[in-house]
Amino acid sequence: MRATIDLAAVEAMDAADPLRAMRDRFILPEGVIYLDGNSLGAAAPAVFNELQKAATQEWAQDLIRAWNTAGWFDMPVALGDQLGRLIGAEAGQTVVCDTTSINIYKVLHAALGIRPNRSVIVAEGDSFPTDLYMAEGVASTRPGTVLRLEGVDAPTIEELIDERVAVILVNHVNYKTGQLRDMAALTCKAHQVGALIVWDLCHTAGALPVELDAANADFAIGCTYKYLNGGPGAPAFIYAAKRHHDDVHQPLSGWWGHARPFAFEQSYAAGSGIRRFLCGTQPVLSMRALKGALDIWDDVDMAAVRKKSIALTDLFIQLVEARCGAYGLELEGPRDGNARGSQVSFLHPHGYQVMRALIERGVIGDFRAPSTIRFGFTPLYVGYKDVWQAVEVLEDILRTGAWQEARFAVKTAVT
Ligand SMILES: Cc1ncc(COP(=O)(O)O)c(C=O)c1O
Repeated sequence: MRATIDLAAVEAMDAADPLRAMRDRFILPEGVIYLDGNSLGAAAPAVFNELQKAATQEWAQDLIRAWNTAGWFDMPVALGDQLGRLIGAEAGQTVVCDTTSINIYKVLHAALGIRPNRSVIVAEGDSFPTDLYMAEGVASTRPGTVLRLEGVDAPTIEELIDERVAVILVNHVNYKTGQLRDMAALTCKAHQVGALIVWDLCHTAGALPVELDAANADFAIGCTYKYLNGGPGAPAFIYAAKRHHDDVHQPLSGWWGHARPFAFEQSYAAGSGIRRFLCGTQPVLSMRALKGALDIWDDVDMAAVRKKSIALTDLFIQLVEARCGAYGLELEGPRDGNARGSQVSFLHPHGYQVMRALIERGVIGDFRAPSTIRFGFTPLYVGYKDVWQAVEVLEDILRTGAWQEARFAVKTAVT
């Protein structure tokens, strides 16, 4: 079967794209079609400008004074508020700090502390592994706490939610399949039995509109190096609903979370508000890079991002199935755009080789074992013609059997 859409139609979609100008805010290497912004977002000159300023003016000239004069000390909360606008969080509930893994540790402890008579953590068996590893780590420090998993202890997460559950740790979008959860509905279901919920937003922050306050979410965590383009290892974030602030305690009780950090007291007293999720000194240069990346979002309409994301991913599925359907690819994940994040995965028995062949030809996606080839579509810088060209390369690799070349079978890291 041939695709019903042609190149001229695809070019017309680019011409009519309201986000088209955003692409110029990013650096995309010549000859590369970048479909891995769901793993590491592209670099932006605005990020380099912030880094340059932070290093050469603030650090080099202001030295230690910059903690105050350049607002370094307040950056976790200031950036948290800036990021909060993208995830539906009123000011004062989001803080940028540490890594997603560490923040999972903090919020799970905080949630378990608010529900002291409950002993169950619920998560997804096919969650991104660090979520499970951190939940295991938390459980190991709290005797009697058990972890129950969707796909292992029951087919669906809903079936695991009962009065014994203290907290549910759940991904808004599954990292592998792109399946999007209904945040409001699952949060409501958790609250009906008195459980709390933590949303992992790694694959949604910056990818689609998120409404944490409106959904009545309790906590959220996520990273900033994917769709938010903060750079490799950029600091992560925590959201905690205001109603929990006075009750939360987290065990990484470092001085940045202290009520009076500069009183240098002998014993810990948790600070007020979202600051109590902080631990120690934060990576200022990485924070400043993130500021440059977040500033870009001041000019972005999230509804337009979602619309384009669905159109890009729909187009990709349509073209792949029309042009590559004969070569053993199977869609893994939702066909309905409204149930999908900003990524598309296909299963292929030789997915590893296929992805390596694609990357060699300049189409960068990634591979997730055992057989998923995954493509992320960042609406700020991926265009419809990129989708067209990526599918042309994929078709060529599959039709010619180029992926079977011996060098692609050698296991090396695939992004
Ligand atoms: C859902 C999810 N959670 C967590 C992480 C990573 O956590 P960290 O930034 O601590 O390595 C990822 C990374 O891809 C992820 O996809």
